[in-house]
Amino acid sequence: MFPDIRPRRLRSTPAIRRLVAETSLEPRHLVLPMFVADGLSEPREIASMPGVYQHTADSLRAAATEAVAAGVGGVMLFGVPRPEDKDAAGTAATDPDGVLNRALRSLRSELGDSTVLMADTCLDEFTDHGHCGVLTDSGVVDNDATLERYAEMAVAQAEAGAHLLGPSGMMDGQIGFIRAALDEAGHTEVGQLAYSAKYASAFYGPFREAVGSSLEGDRRTYQQDPANRRESLHEVDLDLAEGADMVMVKPAMSYLDVLREVADRSPVPVAAYQISGEYSMITAAAQNGWIDRDAAILESLVAIRRAGADIVLTYWAAEVAGRLS
Ligand code: PBG
Repeated sequence: MFPDIRPRRLRSTPAIRRLVAETSLEPRHLVLPMFVADGLSEPREIASMPGVYQHTADSLRAAATEAVAAGVGGVMLFGVPRPEDKDAAGTAATDPDGVLNRALRSLRSELGDSTVLMADTCLDEFTDHGHCGVLTDSGVVDNDATLERYAEMAVAQAEAGAHLLGPSGMMDGQIGFIRAALDEAGHTEVGQLAYSAKYASAFYGPFREAVGSSLEGDRRTYQQDPANRRESLHEVDLDLAEGADMVMVKPAMSYLDVLREVADRSPVPVAAYQISGEYSMITAAAQNGWIDRDAAILESLVAIRRAGADIVLTYWAAEVAGRLS
Protein backbone atom coordinates (compact mmCIF):
# COMPACT_ATOMS: atom_id res chain seq x y z
CA MET A 1 0.00 0.00 0.00
CA PHE A 2 1.38 3.42 -0.95
CA PRO A 3 0.73 6.32 1.38
CA ASP A 4 -1.68 8.78 -0.23
CA ILE A 5 0.81 11.50 -1.14
CA ARG A 6 -0.73 14.43 -2.97
CA PRO A 7 1.64 17.06 -4.40
CA ARG A 8 -1.40 18.84 -5.82
CA ARG A 9 -2.15 20.18 -2.30
CA LEU A 10 0.62 22.71 -2.83
CA ARG A 11 -0.90 23.84 -6.14
CA SER A 12 -4.46 24.33 -5.04
CA THR A 13 -4.69 28.12 -4.64
CA PRO A 14 -2.72 31.09 -5.94
CA ALA A 15 -1.71 31.87 -2.36
CA ILE A 16 -0.17 28.47 -1.68
CA ARG A 17 1.55 28.45 -5.09
CA ARG A 18 3.03 31.82 -4.23
CA LEU A 19 4.13 30.55 -0.83
CA VAL A 20 6.05 27.60 -2.26
CA ALA A 21 7.47 29.15 -5.45
CA GLU A 22 11.18 28.30 -5.61
CA THR A 23 12.17 30.93 -8.14
CA SER A 24 11.45 34.63 -8.05
CA LEU A 25 11.59 37.28 -10.71
CA GLU A 26 12.18 40.83 -9.58
CA PRO A 27 12.78 44.02 -11.53
CA ARG A 28 16.36 44.20 -10.28
CA HIS A 29 17.14 40.88 -11.97
CA LEU A 30 16.43 42.35 -15.40
CA VAL A 31 18.82 44.30 -17.62
CA LEU A 32 17.58 46.15 -20.68
CA PRO A 33 19.74 46.03 -23.83
CA MET A 34 19.30 49.27 -25.83
CA PHE A 35 20.42 50.46 -29.26
CA VAL A 36 21.50 54.01 -30.01
CA ALA A 37 22.03 54.93 -33.65
CA ASP A 38 23.97 57.80 -35.16
CA GLY A 39 22.33 60.09 -37.68
CA LEU A 40 18.70 59.26 -36.85
CA SER A 41 16.21 62.07 -36.53
CA GLU A 42 13.65 59.90 -34.79
CA PRO A 43 13.59 56.43 -33.23
CA ARG A 44 13.37 53.62 -35.77
CA GLU A 45 11.52 50.41 -34.91
CA ILE A 46 13.50 47.28 -35.77
CA ALA A 47 11.32 45.35 -38.23
CA SER A 48 12.31 41.90 -36.97
CA MET A 49 11.92 42.97 -33.32
CA PRO A 50 8.57 44.77 -33.09
CA GLY A 51 8.58 47.01 -30.01
CA VAL A 52 12.39 47.42 -29.97
CA TYR A 53 13.92 50.61 -31.34
CA GLN A 54 17.12 52.09 -32.59
CA HIS A 55 17.16 55.22 -30.48
CA THR A 56 18.26 58.77 -31.05
CA ALA A 57 20.29 60.31 -28.24
CA ASP A 58 17.12 61.94 -26.92
CA SER A 59 14.82 58.95 -27.14
CA LEU A 60 17.53 56.82 -25.55
CA ARG A 61 17.69 59.12 -22.55
CA ALA A 62 13.92 59.08 -22.18
CA ALA A 63 13.61 55.29 -22.55
CA ALA A 64 16.51 54.58 -20.19
CA THR A 65 15.10 56.93 -17.58
CA GLU A 66 11.74 55.18 -17.87
CA ALA A 67 13.35 51.73 -17.54
CA VAL A 68 15.26 52.80 -14.45
CA ALA A 69 12.07 54.23 -12.94
CA ALA A 70 10.40 50.86 -13.60
CA GLY A 71 13.15 49.28 -11.48
CA VAL A 72 15.40 47.43 -13.93
CA GLY A 73 18.77 46.36 -12.59
CA GLY A 74 20.70 48.06 -15.36
CA VAL A 75 20.89 48.93 -19.04
CA MET A 76 23.29 47.54 -21.66
CA LEU A 77 24.10 49.91 -24.53
CA PHE A 78 24.91 49.01 -28.12
CA GLY A 79 26.00 51.67 -30.61
CA VAL A 80 25.03 51.76 -34.27
CA PRO A 81 27.29 54.05 -36.29
CA ARG A 82 26.39 55.54 -39.66
CA PRO A 83 27.45 53.16 -42.46
CA GLU A 84 29.99 55.70 -43.71
CA ASP A 85 31.66 55.74 -40.28
CA LYS A 86 32.48 52.02 -40.37
CA ASP A 87 35.99 50.91 -41.28
CA ALA A 88 38.15 47.82 -41.02
CA ALA A 89 39.45 48.73 -37.55
CA GLY A 90 36.11 49.86 -36.13
CA THR A 91 37.54 53.29 -35.40
CA ALA A 92 34.19 54.75 -34.29
CA ALA A 93 34.24 52.35 -31.32
CA THR A 94 37.25 54.01 -29.75
CA ASP A 95 36.46 57.58 -30.81
CA PRO A 96 35.32 59.47 -27.69
CA ASP A 97 32.82 61.17 -29.98
CA GLY A 98 31.61 57.91 -31.52
CA VAL A 99 27.91 57.16 -31.12
CA LEU A 100 28.27 54.71 -28.24
CA ASN A 101 30.70 56.76 -26.19
CA ARG A 102 28.60 59.90 -26.63
CA ALA A 103 25.50 58.03 -25.49
CA LEU A 104 27.33 56.62 -22.44
CA ARG A 105 28.41 60.10 -21.42
CA SER A 106 24.91 61.44 -21.80
CA LEU A 107 23.28 58.58 -19.86
CA ARG A 108 25.83 58.72 -17.08
CA SER A 109 25.23 62.42 -16.61
CA GLU A 110 21.46 61.87 -16.71
CA LEU A 111 21.30 58.80 -14.46
CA GLY A 112 24.46 59.05 -12.37
CA ASP A 113 24.81 56.01 -10.13
CA SER A 114 21.07 55.35 -9.96
CA THR A 115 21.47 52.37 -12.28
CA VAL A 116 24.25 50.14 -13.59
CA LEU A 117 25.30 51.49 -16.95
CA MET A 118 26.76 48.75 -19.14
CA ALA A 119 28.36 48.91 -22.57
CA ASP A 120 28.92 46.29 -25.24
CA THR A 121 32.66 46.08 -25.69
CA CYS A 122 32.90 44.61 -29.16
CA LEU A 123 33.80 45.80 -32.62
CA ASP A 124 31.18 44.14 -34.81
CA GLU A 125 28.83 47.12 -34.93
CA PHE A 126 31.73 49.34 -35.99
CA THR A 127 33.65 47.30 -38.55
CA ASP A 128 32.81 47.50 -42.25
CA HIS A 129 33.31 43.71 -42.54
CA GLY A 130 31.05 43.09 -39.54
CA HIS A 131 33.42 40.83 -37.59
CA CYS A 132 33.95 41.23 -33.86
CA GLY A 133 37.64 41.93 -34.36
CA VAL A 134 40.20 43.15 -36.84
CA LEU A 135 41.31 40.88 -39.67
CA THR A 136 44.66 39.55 -40.84
CA ASP A 137 45.69 40.04 -44.47
CA SER A 138 44.14 36.68 -45.26
CA GLY A 139 40.82 37.70 -43.71
CA VAL A 140 40.97 35.74 -40.45
CA VAL A 141 39.98 37.46 -37.18
CA ASP A 142 43.30 38.37 -35.56
CA ASN A 143 42.97 37.54 -31.87
CA ASP A 144 45.85 39.53 -30.40
CA ALA A 145 45.50 42.58 -32.62
CA THR A 146 41.83 42.63 -31.64
CA LEU A 147 42.74 42.63 -27.95
CA GLU A 148 44.59 45.91 -28.47
CA ARG A 149 41.44 47.41 -29.98
CA TYR A 150 39.26 46.07 -27.15
CA ALA A 151 41.60 47.60 -24.58
CA GLU A 152 41.30 51.01 -26.23
CA MET A 153 37.54 50.62 -26.53
CA ALA A 154 37.22 49.61 -22.88
CA VAL A 155 39.18 52.61 -21.67
CA ALA A 156 37.09 54.93 -23.87
CA GLN A 157 33.89 53.43 -22.46
CA ALA A 158 35.13 53.72 -18.88
CA GLU A 159 36.06 57.32 -19.53
CA ALA A 160 32.59 57.92 -20.98
CA GLY A 161 31.01 56.69 -17.75
CA ALA A 162 30.21 52.99 -18.10
CA HIS A 163 30.08 51.12 -14.78
CA LEU A 164 30.35 47.66 -16.28
CA LEU A 165 31.75 46.50 -19.62
CA GLY A 166 30.43 43.57 -21.60
CA PRO A 167 33.21 42.14 -23.75
CA SER A 168 31.20 40.00 -26.17
CA GLY A 169 33.72 39.18 -28.89
CA MET A 170 34.97 35.79 -27.64
CA MET A 171 38.64 36.56 -28.25
CA ASP A 172 41.02 34.48 -26.15
CA GLY A 173 42.45 36.43 -23.24
CA GLN A 174 40.11 39.41 -23.62
CA ILE A 175 39.10 39.69 -19.99
CA GLY A 176 42.65 39.77 -18.65
CA PHE A 177 43.85 42.10 -21.36
CA ILE A 178 41.01 44.57 -20.80
CA ARG A 179 41.43 44.34 -17.02
CA ALA A 180 45.09 45.33 -17.30
CA ALA A 181 44.26 48.24 -19.61
CA LEU A 182 41.50 49.54 -17.34
CA ASP A 183 43.74 49.32 -14.28
CA GLU A 184 46.60 50.98 -16.10
CA ALA A 185 44.30 53.88 -17.02
CA GLY A 186 43.11 54.19 -13.41
CA HIS A 187 39.69 52.62 -13.94
CA THR A 188 40.04 49.98 -11.27
CA GLU A 189 36.39 50.42 -10.25
CA VAL A 190 34.99 49.56 -13.69
CA GLY A 191 34.04 45.90 -13.87
CA GLN A 192 33.50 43.29 -16.57
CA LEU A 193 30.48 41.17 -17.28
CA ALA A 194 32.26 38.55 -19.35
CA TYR A 195 30.35 36.91 -22.17
CA SER A 196 32.10 33.71 -21.22
CA ALA A 197 29.99 31.08 -22.92
CA LYS A 198 28.77 32.67 -26.11
CA TYR A 199 27.58 30.34 -28.84
CA ALA A 200 27.55 30.86 -32.61
CA SER A 201 23.77 31.02 -32.77
CA ALA A 202 21.28 31.36 -35.60
CA PHE A 203 19.03 33.09 -33.07
CA TYR A 204 21.11 36.30 -33.29
CA GLY A 205 19.50 36.96 -36.70
CA PRO A 206 17.29 39.91 -35.71
CA PHE A 207 20.16 41.58 -33.80
CA ARG A 208 22.10 41.84 -37.03
CA GLU A 209 19.29 44.03 -38.36
CA ALA A 210 19.12 45.90 -35.06
CA VAL A 211 22.74 47.03 -35.37
CA GLY A 212 22.85 47.25 -39.17
CA SER A 213 25.56 44.58 -39.23
CA SER A 214 27.68 44.25 -42.35
CA LEU A 215 28.63 40.64 -41.62
CA GLU A 216 28.71 38.14 -44.42
CA GLY A 217 29.52 34.65 -43.31
CA ASP A 218 29.55 33.60 -39.67
CA ARG A 219 31.45 33.83 -36.38
CA ARG A 220 32.26 30.16 -35.97
CA THR A 221 36.01 30.70 -35.59
CA TYR A 222 35.46 32.63 -32.37
CA GLN A 223 32.00 31.87 -30.96
CA GLN A 224 31.35 28.41 -29.56
CA ASP A 225 29.92 25.38 -31.30
CA PRO A 226 26.36 24.65 -30.05
CA ALA A 227 27.41 21.01 -29.74
CA ASN A 228 29.74 21.75 -26.85
CA ARG A 229 29.05 21.87 -23.12
CA ARG A 230 32.37 21.25 -21.38
CA GLU A 231 34.01 23.97 -23.42
CA SER A 232 31.78 26.54 -21.70
CA LEU A 233 33.05 25.52 -18.30
CA HIS A 234 36.60 25.95 -19.57
CA GLU A 235 35.78 29.42 -20.92
CA VAL A 236 34.20 30.40 -17.59
CA ASP A 237 37.24 29.19 -15.66
CA LEU A 238 39.55 31.18 -17.91
CA ASP A 239 37.48 34.35 -17.59
CA LEU A 240 37.39 34.00 -13.81
CA ALA A 241 41.15 33.52 -13.70
CA GLU A 242 41.51 36.66 -15.84
CA GLY A 243 39.42 38.70 -13.42
CA ALA A 244 35.81 38.58 -14.67
CA ASP A 245 33.45 40.20 -12.16
CA MET A 246 30.42 38.36 -13.56
CA VAL A 247 30.01 35.74 -16.25
CA MET A 248 27.36 35.22 -18.91
CA VAL A 249 25.81 32.44 -20.91
CA LYS A 250 24.31 33.42 -24.26
CA PRO A 251 21.83 32.71 -25.80
CA ALA A 252 19.63 31.71 -22.88
CA MET A 253 16.78 29.42 -23.81
CA SER A 254 18.62 26.94 -26.02
CA TYR A 255 21.45 26.75 -23.47
CA LEU A 256 19.68 26.33 -20.12
CA ASP A 257 21.71 23.19 -19.39
CA VAL A 258 24.93 25.14 -19.81
CA LEU A 259 23.54 27.94 -17.67
CA ARG A 260 22.74 25.49 -14.88
CA GLU A 261 26.23 24.07 -14.89
CA VAL A 262 27.88 27.46 -14.96
CA ALA A 263 25.63 28.65 -12.11
CA ASP A 264 26.51 25.59 -10.04
CA ARG A 265 30.20 26.28 -10.23
CA SER A 266 30.49 30.06 -10.50
CA PRO A 267 31.67 32.01 -7.45
CA VAL A 268 30.55 35.25 -9.13
CA PRO A 269 27.09 36.36 -10.34
CA VAL A 270 25.85 34.67 -13.50
CA ALA A 271 23.92 36.43 -16.24
CA ALA A 272 22.05 35.01 -19.21
CA TYR A 273 21.05 36.90 -22.35
CA GLN A 274 17.61 36.28 -23.77
CA ILE A 275 18.63 37.30 -27.25
CA SER A 276 16.95 38.89 -30.23
CA GLY A 277 15.74 35.66 -31.83
CA GLU A 278 14.15 34.56 -28.58
CA TYR A 279 12.35 37.90 -28.39
CA SER A 280 11.25 37.69 -32.01
CA MET A 281 9.96 34.13 -31.81
CA ILE A 282 7.71 34.84 -28.85
CA THR A 283 6.60 38.14 -30.37
CA ALA A 284 5.78 36.59 -33.74
CA ALA A 285 3.90 33.65 -32.26
CA ALA A 286 1.91 36.00 -30.05
CA GLN A 287 1.11 38.30 -32.97
CA ASN A 288 -0.33 35.30 -34.76
CA GLY A 289 -2.48 34.53 -31.73
CA TRP A 290 -0.65 31.24 -31.25
CA ILE A 291 0.55 31.84 -27.69
CA ASP A 292 -0.38 34.09 -24.79
CA ARG A 293 2.27 36.79 -25.05
CA ASP A 294 2.47 37.99 -21.45
CA ALA A 295 2.37 34.50 -19.98
CA ALA A 296 5.02 33.25 -22.42
CA ILE A 297 7.33 36.13 -21.59
CA LEU A 298 7.08 35.55 -17.85
CA GLU A 299 7.49 31.80 -18.22
CA SER A 300 10.60 32.25 -20.35
CA LEU A 301 12.16 34.60 -17.81
CA VAL A 302 11.32 32.42 -14.81
CA ALA A 303 12.82 29.44 -16.65
CA ILE A 304 16.07 31.32 -17.23
CA ARG A 305 16.16 32.31 -13.56
CA ARG A 306 15.35 28.74 -12.49
CA ALA A 307 18.24 27.46 -14.61
CA GLY A 308 20.55 29.60 -12.49
CA ALA A 309 20.72 33.13 -13.86
CA ASP A 310 21.10 35.81 -11.23
CA ILE A 311 20.67 38.43 -13.93
CA VAL A 312 18.71 38.23 -17.18
CA LEU A 313 19.32 40.53 -20.12
CA THR A 314 16.03 40.82 -21.97
CA TYR A 315 14.42 43.24 -24.38
CA TRP A 316 11.33 43.00 -22.16
CA ALA A 317 13.18 44.22 -19.05
CA ALA A 318 11.40 47.56 -18.69
CA GLU A 319 7.98 46.19 -19.54
CA VAL A 320 8.26 43.24 -17.18
CA ALA A 321 9.83 45.32 -14.40
CA GLY A 322 6.82 47.62 -14.69
CA ARG A 323 4.45 44.68 -14.54
CA LEU A 324 6.19 43.18 -11.49
CA SER A 325 6.41 46.30 -9.37
C1 PBG B 1 28.23 41.07 -30.56
C2 PBG B 1 26.89 40.80 -30.00
C3 PBG B 1 25.85 40.09 -30.60
C4 PBG B 1 24.79 40.11 -29.71
C5 PBG B 1 25.19 40.83 -28.60
N1 PBG B 1 26.51 41.23 -28.78
C6 PBG B 1 25.72 39.52 -31.95
C7 PBG B 1 26.60 38.47 -32.43
O1 PBG B 1 27.40 37.89 -31.71
O2 PBG B 1 26.49 38.21 -33.63
C8 PBG B 1 23.47 39.45 -29.95
C9 PBG B 1 22.35 39.91 -29.12
C10 PBG B 1 21.04 39.47 -29.59
O3 PBG B 1 20.92 38.67 -30.54
O4 PBG B 1 20.05 39.92 -29.00
N2 PBG B 1 28.64 42.38 -30.29
